[in-house]
Amino acid sequence: MPDARRRDDAHSITLTDGTATRTRQAAPVDLVPVQELHRRCSPGSRALRYHAGKSGLTPAEWRRLSSPERGTTLVTAPAGRADHIIAMTNVMRTDQQGVGELAILVEDGWQARGLGAALAEHAAAVARREGHHALAAVVTAGNRSMLHVLEKLDARPVAATGSVVDLRILL
Ligand SMILES: CC(C)(COP(=O)(O)OP(=O)(O)OC[C@H]1O[C@@H](n2cnc3c(N)ncnc32)[C@H](O)[C@@H]1OP(=O)(O)O)[C@@H](O)C(=O)NCCC(=O)NCCS
Repeated sequence: MPDARRRDDAHSITLTDGTATRTRQAAPVDLVPVQELHRRCSPGSRALRYHAGKSGLTPAEWRRLSSPERGTTLVTAPAGRADHIIAMTNVMRTDQQGVGELAILVEDGWQARGLGAALAEHAAAVARREGHHALAAVVTAGNRSMLHVLEKLDARPVAATGSVVDLRILL
């Protein structure tokens, strides 16, 4: 899809401090700004997102995440700085028909301003539009902010394995 078209389709989110942001569908060409997002994130944030010590994404991983056959990946940038990606949201297909898997990474410096909660709500709307009937999320038990974000969407825990909780949101 041409770049201009993708940006026109952007979803606006205003943060609690008044900063305007735009969220749009990711494309393979976003690899470099997405890698920069990962570099700016703390190891703790990356570990909470990937449940592993991971410094960034490989080009092959990004090809999978940005491939529409695998699901939907959204990227968020401050308004007017389209290539400065500050968050990535994934709604990926799973082997269960109609169940998408939700994951969000917000850059540390942009956390706690309402972005994660707004992205989760937007991701639920996108998933519904794509025909999913549920979203699954795998969250570290101590990840209070993500658990809080998911509670707002009425997520229910369905299983717990060690320090990780599986939650389900019915759409
Ligand atoms: C989890 C994450 C996506 C949340 O994004 P965010 O932009 O910081 O979230 P928000 O600013 O929307 O805050 C979410 C809510 O959590 C609350 N919160 C934040 N820290 C909290 C804490 N330690 N305990 C309880 N609630 C907390 C906030 O008050 C807010 O609630 P409110 O809207 O009722 O005030 C973000 O912190 C992140 O990317 N973390 C690292 C990666 C990660 O954990 N991803 C999730 C894996 S699936």
